[in-house]
Order: sequence, then C-alpha cells, then structure tokens
Amino acid sequence: MTDPDLAAQAVAILRENDRGSYTVPTKGLYPFQWNWDSCLTALGQRHVDEARAWTEIETLFAHQWPDGMVPHIVFHERDDGYFPGPDVWATGRPVPTSGITQPPVAGFAVKRLWEGAADRAAAEDRARALVPKVAAWHRWFFACRDPGAEGLVAVLHPWEAGRDNAVDWDAPFEGVPTEGIAPYTRRDTQHADPAHRPTKAQYDRYLWLVERFRGLGWDNARLHDASPFKVVDPGFNAILIRSAADLAALAAALGMDAIAAENRGHAARGLAALEGLWSDAHGQYLCRDRATGGLIDSASSGGILPAFAPIPPARAAALAARVEALGGRARYLVPSQDPADPRFDPRRYWRGPVWLVVNYMIADGLMRAGQGAAAARITADSLDLIRASGFAEYYDPLDGAPLGGGRFTWTAAMVLEFLAGDAA
Ligand code: GLC
Repeated sequence: MTDPDLAAQAVAILRENDRGSYTVPTKGLYPFQWNWDSCLTALGQRHVDEARAWTEIETLFAHQWPDGMVPHIVFHERDDGYFPGPDVWATGRPVPTSGITQPPVAGFAVKRLWEGAADRAAAEDRARALVPKVAAWHRWFFACRDPGAEGLVAVLHPWEAGRDNAVDWDAPFEGVPTEGIAPYTRRDTQHADPAHRPTKAQYDRYLWLVERFRGLGWDNARLHDASPFKVVDPGFNAILIRSAADLAALAAALGMDAIAAENRGHAARGLAALEGLWSDAHGQYLCRDRATGGLIDSASSGGILPAFAPIPPARAAALAARVEALGGRARYLVPSQDPADPRFDPRRYWRGPVWLVVNYMIADGLMRAGQGAAAARITADSLDLIRASGFAEYYDPLDGAPLGGGRFTWTAAMVLEFLAGDAA
C-alpha cells in the first residue's frame, strides 16, 4: 500500500464509523461514543473536515456531568450488543452515560485543533466555548481523585485508565472481591477472540466495582475513599499534566487568565509529584497502589507514556533508551508490556499488544524532548503495522498480527496524524 492509499482508507473508516455528531470506535464491538477515542479521533478528522472535528469533542462535552466529570461512554442510542449497558450503570443521566471517566486527553486535543485550524475565527469561538468545560473536568479530577492533594490523581476502575486488563492491575485487583455480583453475559467475546480479551476473573472484578459505585449513587465525593481499587497511573497522570499545560497555553492565548493560571498550577504540581513514580531499576515510571502505598512492579507502556508530559530532559532521555531496548525485544514498538516480563502475553489485550494511540502520544512527547530517533522508530513501526495488517484495534508486537476489532476509528485517525507528520 502506498501512503495515499493508506490515507484514503483511513478517511473511509472515519466516514463509515461516523454517526453524525460522534464517531463509534468500531461497528459491533463498541457501538457508542467513548471519551478518549473521540478526542483522538478529532485529530484525524481535522485533516478531512475541521468543523466535524470540533463537533466530535463538543458532543462529548455536551454530556459532561454537573460536577465536572466527563464520562467514559455516552450511550447515544440503544444497542444490546454491548455489555455493561446503561441499565447496569444506572447513572440517571438524561442521555445515559457510564459513571466513570477516561484519560483526559481533551486539553491536548483542543489545543492541537486550535493551533492547526485553517478557519481561525471558528477555531477561536469553538475553543473559547470548550476551554471552561475542560478546565472544570481538570478541577473535578483534583477535587475528587486527589483528596489528599498529592498532585496526582487515582483511577478507581481499570476501564478509567483506558488500559483495561493491564498487568498493572493484577496486584491491586487482589483487594477487589467478586462476591454478590449479579449474573451477567459478556458481549465482547462474541465480537472478538476470547483469547485476546480480558479473563472472566478480571471481568467479575470490573463488575463488582461498578456495582459498588452504583450502590453509592455515583456520588463522586464518596467514591475515592470507598473504592478498594485506587491506582495512580503514570500514563493517565501524564495525559492530565500535558492537557493541563496545553489548556493553560491555550487559555492564555485567548485571554482567559484565571483558567491559564489554574492549569499551570495543576501541571507544575503534577510534574513534581510524578518524580515519585520513577523506578531506576526499570528505567521507567511505575503505578502506585494508593490502597497500600507501594509501587506496582510492572513495566507497562503506562510507565513510558509520561514522555507525553513535559518531564525533565534526563527522564525523557531515559525513556528513549527504554524504548530502544524494547525495540530489541519486539519487532513492533511499543508493546503494552515488556516482552522480558513473564506476564507478557503478545495477543491478550493490554498485556503485550501495540496500540497506535499510545504510540502516537509517546512519539509526540519524545519528539518534543529532542529524542527524534526513538520517535521516528515508533512512527515507522506504526505505519509498518498498518501496511502489513490493516486498521486493527491492536497488534501483536512480535509478528504484527491484527487483533480485536477491525476498521478501527482511532487507529485510522492516528494514521492520518502520523502521515501528516505532526507526531514525528
Ligand atoms: C477498550 C479500550 C479503551 C477504549 C475502548 C474503545 O475498552 O481498552 O481504551 O477506549 O476500548 O475503543
């Protein structure tokens, strides 16, 4: 496939999954609007139709909760092909949504849309309307997910991290019971190979947490302390820090000074606290289990994602070296778990496979930090995967096999970004 063919195919996938004002991640497996999928999808859409790209993010924020949270799924239409659906979440929102959130990449995405926009007047208006909403989401994070004012926020459910069944959650999951959950039938394993999906033991715990939070009426003032699962994920926090820094820059350019100052503060405190997640032994960042206080011994892509944030140059250089080392163990960067780890599983969801969105954010950060060689290898591997295996949900890092859903929206969006040369 030549690059123009790749771009044309990516555009066709974005169109096919477009539902007018939002885009589904892929038909069948994911029939609704997902939070970070939409924000990253908008970056691809801007190469085709700028106005449509803004709409994607605006639709997501139209379903922001009154407390500032932006939910991880918006159930725009009924579809029984997905579990757990709106009846299980029972959040009581006018348009049903889930009750948890997802990696806050909106601040980054809105700034990138704004700075690259050809239609300056429209971009100014649309950014000006979105900035206070993104700021409210960031404020919500520090109020509800960092009650001890550590400068970093916790995820209360693996689905919030966006890396559903990562090895990172195995140890904290030991503290999550499964007793008493309602009987259920999974739908994901009807759309994709069960060997590539999370296990039943994991699914039971996902549902126990949902039922626990539902029992607390989705009151975000209570969820953090009541949850047995609260993990400080370096990747999630890096995305929040980068979004806060970008939102601060955007707000300053628009003359929204209070929001700019507030978000500069979030970013500065977050960056300082992120140092506490660094592991010399692994040469990367690790998760911290806030329930026990300890670091979690798991070298996942979540600990490389901090490259996306404005971390100190020495840390970026160390992460670039780490990426190079992983490149010696995997044909395709960036595996979601180090192949040297005995828990690495090249085909099971977030326990080994490669995701283009993660690649994009790591490459973008490494490039900004002057680590061009590592960024270029990630970009080249990403496009090689598409040429070899098409637009899959995720890929085997050893042989490049396409896994999970096909004709995947954010994979297509990232290809348009990589081809446009914005990330590397
Ligand atoms: C899976 C992924 C998550 C993504 C969603 C929709 O749940 O783990 O990160 O947002 O699919 O693509």
